[in-house]
Amino acid sequence: MFIKTKRGWEIPEREATPEHVFFNRRRFLTGTAAIGAAAALIGCGEDKVAQAEAESAAPAADDPSAGLYPFKRNATYTLDRDVTAEELATRYNNYYEFGSSKRIVEEAQALPLRPWMVAIDGMVARPLQIGIDDLMKQMPLEERLYRHRCVETWSMAVPWSGFALKELVKLAEPQAGAKYLRFETFMNPEVAPEQKTPWYPWPYVEGVTLEEATNDLAFLVTGMYGKPAPKQNGAPLRLALPWKYGFKSAKAIARITFTDARPVNFWQTLQASEYGFWANVNPEVAHPRWSQAQERLLGSDEPRPTLLYNGYGEFVAGLYANLQDEKLFM
Ligand code: MTE
Repeated sequence: MFIKTKRGWEIPEREATPEHVFFNRRRFLTGTAAIGAAAALIGCGEDKVAQAEAESAAPAADDPSAGLYPFKRNATYTLDRDVTAEELATRYNNYYEFGSSKRIVEEAQALPLRPWMVAIDGMVARPLQIGIDDLMKQMPLEERLYRHRCVETWSMAVPWSGFALKELVKLAEPQAGAKYLRFETFMNPEVAPEQKTPWYPWPYVEGVTLEEATNDLAFLVTGMYGKPAPKQNGAPLRLALPWKYGFKSAKAIARITFTDARPVNFWQTLQASEYGFWANVNPEVAHPRWSQAQERLLGSDEPRPTLLYNGYGEFVAGLYANLQDEKLFM
């Protein structure tokens, strides 16, 4: 799709092409959908009225972790805006395994959450296959209020529940040569039919450096709004890396591999000129097809300025001080 270089928030919602419409047309035209699929990541243009219409977004009733919630809030992380209404944050989603529209709540309910094993492997002293409930028992659980900024220019503010990624790193005991963590989403085309499509590089993969993973801000999410996270938001385990564009926050993680090779992420595989490894938020560095200077909070029509590192510079800017030759902001 060629989107004329209008700024993202200037595109009237009714003019934006729904991703699946664009995507199917592109596939038809080119026979290879890789570029089109990457272009489809700008999908923030769906009618917000539709956000409020969707079905129930409650977490699974049979979740054995339900009794653990709510977790104590960590007061270190505060917001400069209101928390996004739960109905919006849980019904306006990006989850390409279940479709390329923002309304995948119903489709995502097909994902079984138990048993859910997480493999922790690669360059670690303690490789593990651990059930999500056992993992949670070993982690210090807490709630954090975080901003979330999608590369598509929409944003939200969410009370996530979970634990610091650095605690999992401690548990795994990385070997001396480990430099990166590679996160892999489940692979089950029977429940996530989009995973049968050959033009996406399934499974969804993301990566961070070991230094980023041990930064205080890096968080593994098990819940939101004081309850287990609903399936469409990435249950039972997803990342929250609030200083990076939202595509870095991989959902439904089944494997975490410690490695010395920089992981190539899902969107980077599709379109490396638009989506990179670092993907730190920066209002001054435009996406090749739209500005990143402003954003639109779910539930609001008012554009507001985007902040460098999404406002988390005090926590993370130091990570990048010696990396000026890297493409840190795409
Ligand atoms: N993880 C997986 N496995 N599949 C996806 O399609 N989309 C990413 C990220 N994690 C995605 C994913 C993108 S682009 C964003 S903005 C966030 O999830 C959206 O999270 P939310 O639906 O909870 O708002």
